[in-house]
Order: sequence, then C-alpha cells, then structure tokens
Amino acid sequence: MLLGPPGVGKGTQAELLCQALGTCHLSTGDVFRAASCQCDPSPALRSALEAMRRGELVSDGLVVTMVEERSACLRCRGGFLLDGFPRTVSQAEALDDLLVREGTAVDAVISYELPLDEIVDRLGGRRTCSICKAVYHVKARPPRAGGVCDLCGGALIQREDDRPESIRVRMRAYEECTRPLADYYEMTGRLIAVSADGPPEEVLERSLRELQTREESARH
Ligand code: AP5
Repeated sequence: MLLGPPGVGKGTQAELLCQALGTCHLSTGDVFRAASCQCDPSPALRSALEAMRRGELVSDGLVVTMVEERSACLRCRGGFLLDGFPRTVSQAEALDDLLVREGTAVDAVISYELPLDEIVDRLGGRRTCSICKAVYHVKARPPRAGGVCDLCGGALIQREDDRPESIRVRMRAYEECTRPLADYYEMTGRLIAVSADGPPEEVLERSLRELQTREESARH
C-alpha cells in the first residue's frame, strides 16, 4: 500500500513498482478519473466527481463500493498494490474486513515523505494525457514533443484539482484524514517511511530495498 501526500509521487512509483514486481495496480483516483468519462454518471458519481474537482475526499461509502467492485485485483497472482486507498481510518477498517473476506493481507505500507515546497513543484508541473492518462512533469519527466503524449499523441492537460485552491483543500484533507492512517499501520508494524526525494528510479530502488529488508526480516 502506498501512502503519502498529494503529488508526492505515489502514482509514478506505483507504475514502476508494478512493473518491477508484477503486481496489480488499484488506484482509486484513477478509477474516479476513468469514471468521469462516462456520458451519463449516476447522481452519486456526479457528486463524487464534484468533490474531487474541489479537492475534497469522496465519501467513504462510495469509495469502498468502488473498491469492492474491483476486489478481483486482490486475488491477482502477482499480488496487489493499493494507491490512494485507504485514505481515512474508516476506509482502512472496511479494507481490513474486505481482506479477511478475500483471505489475503497487506504485507507492507510505504509512506512517502517529501518537503512541501517540492510537493507543490511536482503538482504545479504535472501534465496528464487527456486520452490515456499517462503522467508527465514539465521538468522531471517531459514529453518528447511539447504538449503531446509520447504514448498516444493525446493533448497534455493540467488536472482540474491541481489548481492552487484545490491543492490547498487536498493538503488539508490529507493532514486531517489520511496522515492519522500512518499511526494505524505503525501500530501493526507494517509502516515503512521512505523518502520520495530524487529521481523516480532512485525512489524506486530505495522502495524495493526497504521491501526486501522487510521480507528478509519477516523470514527470520
Ligand atoms: P489521487 O489521484 O489519488 O490523487 P492524490 O493522492 O492527490 O495523488 P496525486 O495523483 O495528486 O499524486 P501522486 O502522489 O500520485 O503523484 P504523481 O505520481 O502523479 O486522488 C485524486 C482525488 O480523488 C482525491 O483528491 C479525492 O477527491 C479522490 N479520491 C481518490 N481516492 C480516494 C479515497 N480513497 N477516498 C476519498 N477520495 C478519494 O506525481 C506528481 C508529479 O510529480 C507528476 O508530474 C510526476 O511526473 C512528478 N514526479 C513523480 N515522482 C517524481 C520524482 N521522483 N521526481 C520528480 N518528479 C516526480
């Protein structure tokens, strides 16, 4: 499971970790962004997308339902990686119940850490493909041709919730609702704090090293 403030690089690391470990990637943010393309969203989904645009958290009930609908991910032979879920203690409790029902467990929770000014820089420079949703950064991960996705040629756009007023709301939601989760997982000895500083490949190596150390010490 990946924890950490908005923009710290969870999605980027999730992609690299899944390539390295062959795990299934479940990102609730991606699920909602994909749902935003539906031409006739249900009233519940519409209000969730509105909350997301403002930078607020989507209601626990809807998030948990979305995850339960994708519980096949938790049975992936290569394991699973949760990105952006859970985000509240109530979601974490619902996840615990779901994992028991699925007969599986979370082995490790990586909490990425980075100073706020670097986070703001990452969010401000992020560009996302309007078609395939690939993520770039104007300085750290620029596309080959300006404003165009390397993978599908789609136009790169700035996410609506990366506007300064939404970023402030997201940071507050993180501090109030999600940071307490670190204590929740610390108590069960599964929390690993990892610095998200440096280029993505360096952060990946650091994360893999920490996971390996944890696995080795669990074996002994
Ligand atoms: P979600 O999509 O999960 O957003 P988030 O947690 O705010 O995280 P971000 O996607 O903004 O950032 P990230 O940490 O993945 O960073 P990234 O890798 O893109 O959720 C969005 C919204 O959906 C929420 O606000 C909420 O409304 C709703 N939602 C989702 N899940 C929910 C839940 N469980 N409960 C309730 N509501 C929920 O990187 C950022 C930028 O930095 C990119 O440009 C990237 O290229 C660059 N970058 C990454 N790593 C590096 C590096 N090492 N060096 C330099 N640049 C880097």
